[in-house]
Amino acid sequence: ATVECLRATYSSGINCVTFPFPLHMSEQQLLKPDEWSYCDYFWADRKDPQGSANISGFEVLLQKQLKGRQMQKEMAEFVRERIRIEEEYAKNLSKLSQIPLAAQEEGTLGEAWAQLKKSLADEAEVHLKFSSKLQSEVEKPLLIFRENFKKDMKKFDHHMADLRKQLTGRNAAVEKARKSLADRQKDLELKTQQLEIKLSSKIEEDIKKARRKSTQAGDDLMRCVDLYNQSQSKWFEEMVTSSLELERLEVERVEMIRQHLCQYTTLRHETDMFNQSTIEPVDKLLRSVDPAKDRELWVKEHKTGELRPVDMDI
Ligand SMILES: *[C@@H]1O[C@H](CO)[C@@H](O)[C@H](O)[C@H]1NC(C)=O
Ligand SMILES: *[C@@H]1O[C@H](CO)[C@@H](O)[C@H](O)[C@H]1NC(C)=O
Ligand SMILES: *[C@@H]1O[C@H](CO)[C@@H](O)[C@H](O)[C@H]1NC(C)=O
Ligand SMILES: *[C@@H]1O[C@H](CO)[C@@H](O)[C@H](O)[C@H]1NC(C)=O
Repeated sequence: ATVECLRATYSSGINCVTFPFPLHMSEQQLLKPDEWSYCDYFWADRKDPQGSANISGFEVLLQKQLKGRQMQKEMAEFVRERIRIEEEYAKNLSKLSQIPLAAQEEGTLGEAWAQLKKSLADEAEVHLKFSSKLQSEVEKPLLIFRENFKKDMKKFDHHMADLRKQLTGRNAAVEKARKSLADRQKDLELKTQQLEIKLSSKIEEDIKKARRKSTQAGDDLMRCVDLYNQSQSKWFEEMVTSSLELERLEVERVEMIRQHLCQYTTLRHETDMFNQSTIEPVDKLLRSVDPAKDRELWVKEHKTGELRPVDMDI
């Protein structure tokens, strides 16, 4: 049917869709001017770069939907990796904070040192909270897809392909009727010429018959064009409503992802703030490190005797 359709394509038809002649193209207005709407820019088929098959404009839109879903999935995967790094970092910090290095340091310096080590555990806590919020508020929502997405896309695909197939079939019928009419007209012409050469009641009868057949072929063609028009108008309507639906889904997807990426940056800022606050007590204790006081404490605890030696008497 496709080959027949292509062979029969008339000047204004491309792949069985009738477009206006170039002269009348400028008379068409966009359905949604200034919106770059899907419903205005995907009427023609696209040549497949690999050669053989053409891709319909609607299929281009469907592929965008599938790609969008894949991108969303990959973003979730990326966030998962970010979570993993954060968890590992927290684990490393927590482990390090428990290593007893320099645990015997004393006095105000010892206190500051202990606080510094503890701050690592606090920081680890901050990073763990960040990772768990990333999971619940960014990764998980990104992994929620519209229910029945793939099924719906397939339904769209089949529906539009069926309408195109019907259009192709009816286009072929039009071409057949067109050819049939041409044949009938040629036949009628031939018989009329015969009558000019030789008047005969048999030929007159033949002409009557031929004229009737020609008229019938003309009616046939009208009927076929009518059916074709109906098909194309149905396809047109479905193209508009379906592409607008896909457009709505894409807007929804972009907005949803944007919202969750904003949540990522909010959480990240928060982490910096909490993270900073784990350091503050360390700074405070470092400011009160006092070598004199530490010496006093240490001496008091470890002194071995304050009686000084004196000179020997004879
Ligand atoms: C693809 O479309 C072009 C018109 O744009 C047509 O000439 C060509 O034959 C089509 N190819 C197939 C395989 O349908
Ligand atoms: C955690 O520590 C391990 C080994 O101690 C190291 O290989 C890894 O890079 C560290 N990870 C992070 C996120 O700091
Ligand atoms: C087909 O559609 C065109 C454009 O709408 C219209 O002018 C024409 O009358 C229709 N032809 C038939 C046979 O219905
Ligand atoms: C906070 O966390 C980052 C890593 O996410 C780290 O480089 C930084 O040293 C931490 N501490 C402070 C006080 O910002």
